[in-house]
Amino acid sequence: MKIGILISGRGSNMLAISKAVRDGTIPDSEIAVVISDRPKAEGLRKASELGIEAVSVPRKGRSRAGHDADIMAELGKRRVELVCLAGYMRLLSKGFVLEYKNRILNIHPSLLPSFKGLEAQKQAIDYGVKISGCTVHFVDEDLDHGAIILQKAVEVHDSDTPESLAARIIAHEHETYVKAVALVVGGRYRIEGRRVVFGDGGISAAPGG
Ligand code: GRF
Repeated sequence: MKIGILISGRGSNMLAISKAVRDGTIPDSEIAVVISDRPKAEGLRKASELGIEAVSVPRKGRSRAGHDADIMAELGKRRVELVCLAGYMRLLSKGFVLEYKNRILNIHPSLLPSFKGLEAQKQAIDYGVKISGCTVHFVDEDLDHGAIILQKAVEVHDSDTPESLAARIIAHEHETYVKAVALVVGGRYRIEGRRVVFGDGGISAAPGG
């Protein structure tokens, strides 16, 4: 499966997925391209160092639809079948979501539907929850909303700051995102409304499958 990864910053989830593709934890796949909307994203350099094609598609001066069209052109050129958002900080247009329906994944650092949007770890601490975590989900037109593939719970400590909680969650993000991509690539799942159901009885809904 040809995977495209969209980033805006550090790119640690991108690295985790790329390494898992390389060592076969995510089977039968290749990272066709890493795209950033921010030319200076650290993740672009990290992708290049791994020998992955790293492309900057700046959002500056482009409408959302125009920018997404630029990105879709880059994905299309490389016949990307599955798109992973990994710290990509721009909402996708309706056109993009429809073009890649059920073929775009995202990771969010909370147990959705709690704490959507920015600063999810700070939101969790401010609310006083004792457990937060991370969620990998399919992307639909609404923010942090699509059908959930995997979640992982992480304890919130009384002494946590948003930074310390983020540091504890990110390690689980890497593992959870890799598992979720492997599951989706494997194709043994079906989507029933909001539910992603796994198991041998699953009808393959794999991208390209
Ligand atoms: C992660 O916490 C991810 O859940 C959120 O943005 C952060 C990106 O980190 N969407 P990285 O760029 O993958 O290191």
